[in-house]
Amino acid sequence: MNPLFINFIYIISAALFIFGLKMLSSPATARRGNLLSSLGMLIAIIVTLMNAGLDYKWIFLGILIGSGIGAFVAIRVEMTSMPEMVALFNGFGGISSLLLAWAEYHQNREMSVFIAIVAFLSAFIGGVTFSGSMVAFGKLSGKITQKAVVFKGQHIMNAVILGTALVAAAIFCITPASVFGYVLFALILVVALGFGVTSTIPIGGADMPVVISLLNSYSGIAACAAGFVISNNILIVAGALVGASGIILTNIMCKAMNRSLANVLFSGFGSTTAVQTGDGPQGEVRPASAEDVYYILEAADSVAFVPGYGLAVAQAQHAVKELGDLLEANDTEVSYAIHPVAGRMPGHMNVLLAEANVPYDQLVEMDDINPRMDSVDVCVVIGANDVVNPAALDDESSPIYGMPIIETHRAKTVIVLKRSMNPGFAGIQNALFFAENARMYFGDAKASIQALVAEFKND
Ligand code: TAP
Repeated sequence: MNPLFINFIYIISAALFIFGLKMLSSPATARRGNLLSSLGMLIAIIVTLMNAGLDYKWIFLGILIGSGIGAFVAIRVEMTSMPEMVALFNGFGGISSLLLAWAEYHQNREMSVFIAIVAFLSAFIGGVTFSGSMVAFGKLSGKITQKAVVFKGQHIMNAVILGTALVAAAIFCITPASVFGYVLFALILVVALGFGVTSTIPIGGADMPVVISLLNSYSGIAACAAGFVISNNILIVAGALVGASGIILTNIMCKAMNRSLANVLFSGFGSTTAVQTGDGPQGEVRPASAEDVYYILEAADSVAFVPGYGLAVAQAQHAVKELGDLLEANDTEVSYAIHPVAGRMPGHMNVLLAEANVPYDQLVEMDDINPRMDSVDVCVVIGANDVVNPAALDDESSPIYGMPIIETHRAKTVIVLKRSMNPGFAGIQNALFFAENARMYFGDAKASIQALVAEFKND
């Protein structure tokens, strides 16, 4: 095929990737964005394989088998298991880059220093991504312990492993064709796979979404390096896009949790149960019954639901939507305020609310609702805790100090739905629950909301 034609098709594919990524930034356009990017990938794969002289029958068969497996897995996976699936896919991306670099080196050991460097990067980062993603998958699916596995000398051990890889890489890149070349390359592969495991086990299950996003970025960087190894422009572009978007998402999550990436990776958060003490403010709470809450909601002009991890645990999204509809029918302005790290994975709340067909225009971001919080009549906090904890704003000794929150304590009335006074992810008590304007409506979120729906219907 004419290289000009191939590069022209690649530019079209790259444009589709970029437009697709842009459309992923809004729930309203995300589906179309996904389709557009997939189309870009399909075109790129077909042109690349045809250019490699592969018979179109094999291309078709490969696409059929791959799409079949992808569709089967995507249909079967529970929405809440999505991070696990992303971890697996990242891992597959990583191992592809490793195998590609290996195959290239196997075929042609007389490589230039530059190609040897990118082959090392592709194989090493790909290997780390693969084994790290498998650990992340195991932790999230409960197949291995969710706890952070930490032990004395762990950082030193990891530094030694990384150092070994770098020394082996330096010698390999200078003399890839030497007798020792293959031995060094094999050593790099083994060290990469080991390092993926040893660098992921010290991270607790609850921090896995951040790690998965980081591994996603690694898989992109490995693919980008693999693109240089085989001189494939679209692989370089696609890898760079994945690498950059993964690191941006990682950064957004760390910022929203007010933690540095180093803290997520090295602090061993979740290695002990000490964080679950519920230390913090204590006092009198004002419990409310379904009937009390009904009267408050019935009289409100504006209600903002603030969902958190408890919404996912209770699977209360459909009940919330039903209550929202009843409130709207009662001429109440309804909105759903979403914190970027509410729940346990990026977009967790958006996904649940979308499943219940909550209209996108009722979703409001934290930065949009906070400035007008004083005018909100009632905030209904559904199984959220840390993301509405005012200690993040005013208690410098709090582990979440500095984390941006949805400032529900500034609403005229706050109703908190949870089962007990137990703390959330950060393991600290919440002064909001004792505030003058707060009422605690105890119980499983789904049952509590269904009781409110029944009150409205009986009215
Ligand atoms: P949390 O602070 O974890 O609080 C969740 C609350 O839900 C708990 O206090 C729990 O109280 C309640 N709950 C659990 N099951 C319930 C049920 N069936 N019905 C009613 N309530 C229930 O959640 P959040 O406010 O969403 O904050 C998320 C936290 O996770 C943040 O600290 C964030 O940094 C962290 N995190 C997030 C992510 C991402 S990407 N989202 C990733 C890693 C870590 P009861 O037990 O009393 O019911």
